Amino acid sequence: MRLAILLSGRGSNFAAIQDAIVRGELDAEIVCVISNRPNAAGIERARALGLTAHVIDHRSFDSREAHESEVLRVLADARPDFIALAGYMRLLSPAFIAAYPMRILNIHPSLLPAFPGVDAQAQAIAYGVKVSGCTVHLVDENLDAGPIIVQRVVAVRDDDDASSLSARILDEEHIAYVDALKKLAEGGYRIDGRRVVPA
Ligand code: GRF
Repeated sequence: MRLAILLSGRGSNFAAIQDAIVRGELDAEIVCVISNRPNAAGIERARALGLTAHVIDHRSFDSREAHESEVLRVLADARPDFIALAGYMRLLSPAFIAAYPMRILNIHPSLLPAFPGVDAQAQAIAYGVKVSGCTVHLVDENLDAGPIIVQRVVAVRDDDDASSLSARILDEEHIAYVDALKKLAEGGYRIDGRRVVPA
């Protein structure tokens, strides 16, 4: 599986994916890492690993379309089978998503459809749920809404705040993303409406 990674920050999910590849647990090759932020720790890591790393700073472009078309140009060169959004803090336009239908994955730090959007962990604390978790899903034109590949659950403790809950969810994110990519790399699945089921 040829895999492209899009990120904007820390890059711990990217690191977990890369580690799984090195361990031989995930049969994939990271063909490019793209960051829209020049100082993202994730892009530094990609460079240090000798991976093909591109900074495509959205602030250098006049419009969302212009930025996206440069990202699409770089992706076209890299020829990924799948694109993993790993903390990529840009909304993708319908045209971008249409270029890779059901081939873009995202990870979200809640059990979707609960708490889409930003600050999902703080939303979970504020709502008072007793469990939360993470979701890896395929990306469609709606925010945090495409077919779900993997979810993992964590308990919400009485003394949790957004930060402690985020840390506990993040540990599960790293497992969930690798599991989801393994499913896709191994094939043998089909998408039936919203459901990702064995073929
Ligand atoms: C994760 O919490 C992920 O769920 C969300 O953004 C964060 C990215 O973290 N989409 P990292 O950059 O992978 O460490």
